[in-house]
Amino acid sequence: MPIDATRSARPDSAVAAPTPSRVPPPVPPPVPRGGAAVRCADLHKTYGRAEAAVAALSGVDVAFDRGRLTAIMGPSGSGKSTLLHCLAGLDAATSGRVFLGDTELTALDDTALTLLRRRRLGFVFQSFNLLPMLTAEQNVLLPLELAGRRPRIDREWLAALVDVLGIEARMGHRPGELSGGQQQRVAIARALITRPEVVFADEPTGNLDSRSGAEVLALLRRSVRELGQTVVMVTHDPVAAAHADRVVLLADGRLAGEVDRPTPESVLSALGALEAPSGTGGGA
Ligand SMILES: Nc1ncnc2c1ncn2[C@@H]1O[C@H](COP(=O)(O)OP(=O)(O)O)[C@@H](O)[C@H]1O
Ligand SMILES: [Mg+2]
Repeated sequence: MPIDATRSARPDSAVAAPTPSRVPPPVPPPVPRGGAAVRCADLHKTYGRAEAAVAALSGVDVAFDRGRLTAIMGPSGSGKSTLLHCLAGLDAATSGRVFLGDTELTALDDTALTLLRRRRLGFVFQSFNLLPMLTAEQNVLLPLELAGRRPRIDREWLAALVDVLGIEARMGHRPGELSGGQQQRVAIARALITRPEVVFADEPTGNLDSRSGAEVLALLRRSVRELGQTVVMVTHDPVAAAHADRVVLLADGRLAGEVDRPTPESVLSALGALEAPSGTGGGA
């Protein structure tokens, strides 16, 4: 691999301060546990227009704690994926504000948002979304390349991730040669490689058998416990949600309750209450 000898002539140098007099932005100090890693205020998202308009989110205010695993649950069509995409800057909200730490995502232009997403966020898709022509290792390293950091691959971090995820022996293989569980673990390594402030996962176990799903959940749990990672995960599975520190419930594009220190039973009963025809939803 050619070594990039030029120091500041790389294309992404527009991001680094070009003026020598400017002090480089301070590296944020290690963040103590607690406090919101990501939050949104009065978030609305409407798809389509006029009579075809669908209100996917109708005024969501929620904050996700740092260093914790939070699950988002709710009936199909309740806006879970839309919320995750808006929080991760993958989709633009119609109105409202999203903050990553102190940075307002909803105030950034497209270029700044793309860079922020690449450098500060990770996303795990239900369908893995690995590139079939690349090996597992190349897939994992891709976000670093996209973020313009190729010359600074942190080999130690890569090794730690691969070890924690138990995919050492598979790193030279292409996705097609891996099981679903292994592909999802590679996708998680890819989401963690940039040491993102928040990892979002949309039904990360949705395409896995129950054993692989349990492995993936255990790994997300471990990344929270051992690496201090913040994870926000959408799931429809009460057993998966019970791995979380907290469950946030959505119904009809609105917050509809939450469960702290969930168990499969407490999650099931909260979901049951949501779906019960109580008639008076959205009161508060
Ligand atoms: N790209 C889109 N265009 C139009 N409607 C959409 C689109 N994405 C989602 N929706 C609608 O928004 C609502 C919320 O969808 P979604 O966030 O995917 O829900 P969930 O993930 O909870 O199943 C649904 O009514 C869905 O049909
Ligand atoms: Mg969804």
